[in-house]
Amino acid sequence: MLSLILWIVIGYLLGTIPFGIVISRAMGLGDLRKIGSGNIGATNVLRTGNKGAAAATLVLDGFKGALAVLLALWLAPEGVAKWAGLAALVGHCYPVWLRFKGGKGVATYLGVVLALSWPVGLLCCATWLFAAVISRISSVGALTAAMSTTVWMFMMARVDLLVMGTLMTALIYWRHRANLARLREGTEPKIGKK
Ligand code: G3P
Repeated sequence: MLSLILWIVIGYLLGTIPFGIVISRAMGLGDLRKIGSGNIGATNVLRTGNKGAAAATLVLDGFKGALAVLLALWLAPEGVAKWAGLAALVGHCYPVWLRFKGGKGVATYLGVVLALSWPVGLLCCATWLFAAVISRISSVGALTAAMSTTVWMFMMARVDLLVMGTLMTALIYWRHRANLARLREGTEPKIGKK
């Protein structure tokens, strides 16, 4: 139990690193929270016009989720890693350093799933890419991938991940409330547009 709590704390703290804000500031792109949707993720970094910064944010936000899982897979008792991954996602969405106003968690969720099961992770990435390319809307890619997660887990025989996968999907949908409202109104911007 103590080990589980420890790894949840480690996962949470890793997830709280706001790479979008750090990279945008370091590259002189301004305060991400005052740009576009105000989100701290790669989609909003792209709205600054800097594709390299957006790609770096996507990779590093994914990496911190993967790192939480991989460290726990390596050092923690069996069955703990998925909760460390979920904690990293919570950390990204509700970072203590930003008064719990964080991101929407998509890159971190993909990193977590890739580290837990690369076949499931690749299927989630492919779903995200396919839906984003077809719709040209980042949130459609994210919401479609999130919804597909438990389906891929089931098909890849990773039923041990289903409860945690369902919680990740629920959190990502909760964090996309404003996007869902804009999608209903038909005002959600296409990728790269403000
Ligand atoms: O990954 C976040 C994306 O799904 C939506 O971002 O900035 O358009 O709200 P944004």
